[in-house]
Amino acid sequence: MKKLLILGAGTYQVPLIKAAKKLGIYTIVSSIPGNYPGFSLADKVYYENTTDYGKILNIARREQIDGIVTAGTDVAVITIGKVCDALGLRGLSYEAAEIATDKLRMKEAYEAYGVRSAKFRKIPFSREDYSDIIADLEFPLMFKSVDSSGSRGIVKVTSAEQFEHARNTVMENTRSDYFIVEEYIEGEEFGAQAFVQDGKLEFILPHGDYVFKGDTGVPIGHFAPYDLSPESLADARYQLEQAVKAMKLNNCAINADFIMKDGKTYVLELGGRSGATCLAELTSIFFNFDYYEKIIRVAIGEKVDFTPQLAEGQEGIPNASMLLMSDRDGHIVSQENCNDPDPDIVDIQFDHKPGDPVHKFKVGPHRIGHVITKGKSLDEAVELLHKALDKINITVQ
Ligand SMILES: Nc1ncnc2c1ncn2[C@@H]1O[C@H](COP(=O)(O)OP(=O)(O)O)[C@@H](O)[C@H]1O
Ligand SMILES: [Mg+2]
Repeated sequence: MKKLLILGAGTYQVPLIKAAKKLGIYTIVSSIPGNYPGFSLADKVYYENTTDYGKILNIARREQIDGIVTAGTDVAVITIGKVCDALGLRGLSYEAAEIATDKLRMKEAYEAYGVRSAKFRKIPFSREDYSDIIADLEFPLMFKSVDSSGSRGIVKVTSAEQFEHARNTVMENTRSDYFIVEEYIEGEEFGAQAFVQDGKLEFILPHGDYVFKGDTGVPIGHFAPYDLSPESLADARYQLEQAVKAMKLNNCAINADFIMKDGKTYVLELGGRSGATCLAELTSIFFNFDYYEKIIRVAIGEKVDFTPQLAEGQEGIPNASMLLMSDRDGHIVSQENCNDPDPDIVDIQFDHKPGDPVHKFKVGPHRIGHVITKGKSLDEAVELLHKALDKINITVQ
């Protein structure tokens, strides 16, 4: 029996655990302790922090695992690199993982490979006055922590009066002694799921993002296909390919964040793992295959075929998703799905039980569930998404 180590036990790892079990794989899950749904599904559980790669490597050695994966989070990617290198497992290398989880190294790699990306500068925190370093950057600017994720330590700045506040916010959200400042790209945010196997890009699936405008954009839903002209699609593909090379990603799922401006794709960042917020599901539905299964098979060393399972002439199955969110802090009093069963309502998930505490939505982890729909056309899928959302009643008090 093959053994798979899955990092994380949260909402975004649950489908990975289920898919592995369906494949007859022995599942070992590691996560910090907490009320995480993945624990009860796994064959074996370790309550270790997934960023502690020394401890995770020991577990991997002791268990003689065949593969290591995660989904939907950057937090554990560095550990995957470490374990893959140490045990010769299939996955991204430690070097690639380091680049993928350090925004400065990523930007430097993009610059070296000519990837279109916002102009940036590195600023040491030791510098009180750094106006000379950024003198040739144009407002608005983004101040960024290099080692955080989920929009933490990312601040938009429109004038020099905001520098101090922005720098302080970044400082509170980083362990590094420097940060980056880059130009703000005014455009439409979108993304892509992709997979690279033995250095070959198996597919690229651009998707539209529904974005919640908080302090920065927070994705709350997605849809595919994303309408791009053939030229824009070719450009997005080229930028992604160059970014993959720059980051030395060779065996992993890819979650790409882009901004479209004047028909040209700017690369915000790439993660070496599948996307959160129903993005792995979007990929599965669009290509009519089980994406989680493929991610797992690659990780345990199989050569995987990514050919979409579609009818002749069909490009993909249109689909859309949206998170369920609360507009206040409180506890769930009741939650009710009044939708009739419909094969095009692919999934309605409640993350919590009545009585559970929830947050007013500000960031992704505040989600309280999701809805995913599909249709013959994207319009149909989106229309059904909104209808389905209207028939879900959640009371929080
Ligand atoms: N240069 C930029 N121009 C415009 N928006 C940006 C830029 N950089 C970041 N953002 C916004 O901030 C969000 C978070 O930034 P990102 O670099 O992706 O960090 P994180 O790792 O927190 O996701 C992006 O999804 C986007 O909405
Ligand atoms: Mg991002």
